Amino acid sequence: MATGRTFKLNTGAEIPALGLGTWQSPEDQVHSAVLTALKCGYKLIDTAFVYGNEVAVGQGIKDSGVARESFFLTTKLWSTYHTRVAEGLEASLKNLGVDYLDLFLVHWPVCMNALGDDPLFPRREDGTRDLVPEDQWDFTKTWAEMQKLLDTGKVRAIGVSNMSIANFEKLLAAPTTTVIPAVNQVELHPYLPQEKLLAYCEAKGIHVTAYSPLGSTSAPLQEDPIIQEIAKKAGKTPAQVLISWAITRGTSAIPKSVTPTRIESNFHDFVLSDSDVAAITAIGKTTHKRMVSPAWGVTIFHED
Ligand SMILES: NC(=O)c1ccc[n+]([C@@H]2O[C@H](COP(=O)([O-])OP(=O)(O)OC[C@H]3O[C@@H](n4cnc5c(N)ncnc54)[C@H](OP(=O)(O)O)[C@@H]3O)[C@@H](O)[C@H]2O)c1
Repeated sequence: MATGRTFKLNTGAEIPALGLGTWQSPEDQVHSAVLTALKCGYKLIDTAFVYGNEVAVGQGIKDSGVARESFFLTTKLWSTYHTRVAEGLEASLKNLGVDYLDLFLVHWPVCMNALGDDPLFPRREDGTRDLVPEDQWDFTKTWAEMQKLLDTGKVRAIGVSNMSIANFEKLLAAPTTTVIPAVNQVELHPYLPQEKLLAYCEAKGIHVTAYSPLGSTSAPLQEDPIIQEIAKKAGKTPAQVLISWAITRGTSAIPKSVTPTRIESNFHDFVLSDSDVAAITAIGKTTHKRMVSPAWGVTIFHED
């Protein structure tokens, strides 16, 4: 059985500790993945406009028959929507077929040209990313627009993703910032334990969600000998250990799978001992590896 843990956000709402990720979940498989997850008790579904599967995620939600109020739904504003935040929200609500989101995140602190040569990944003629110059728009302006969404009742909480301490300092110092992000969703697993960023977010009252908790595509962290040893000792799968490590540290975790048996077994998180948590966290001292690092052309991960 899952522990059913939740974490309190700075809005007062609770975010479930364990959710289903949907990046790289093909449209034709994500519908049944969402159905399976909601059926076996998941209370959090994480998606994003750029995943191109919000419509199928929404259909899975609808077909599950699960009441909208009984689970937590997160999606993310894509970078070509930074200059038209309200439009980005409407597009996601329409795709998902819902009236509100529990959490709307700024996917990356990078603003791309809305009128470029591609609606999602515009590039300049020289092949570089078509970013809006910082003197015209930056993520502090995006955040000012995000704050306005709270009054619409269409988002219960707003947050960020892929935010470094340096970028937080800029965001929180901006005169337009009146709302502290509820969540920072970042890559977090034993090869990237994010201790500095976690301490910073905790001090500011920002909850952290661990993305790629299994090490992303093909779950490479499962093969780590320390994870395998702890899994064997606990009679758990390596994935359950990885997910439980993230949650026992106080971060929510959103493992992705489109495989029904894995969706089901990943849901069985458990409480790890302090010594196991410490042993797993120490893995990052010898193996440091970031799996998700798109070439944006600007520095995103200042602490690396
Ligand atoms: N905010 C962001 O910028 C951002 C970036 C990356 C990810 N995310 C979010 O975080 C979620 C999770 O991250 P992720 O998708 O990168 O990676 P992940 O959850 O760490 O790993 C997913 C991979 O693990 C496999 N897997 C899942 N459970 C398994 C199990 N029990 N045994 C063996 N293999 C298993 C999946 O395969 P199958 O699907 O084939 O079962 C898939 O290949 C994403 O889906 C997305 O929602 C957000």
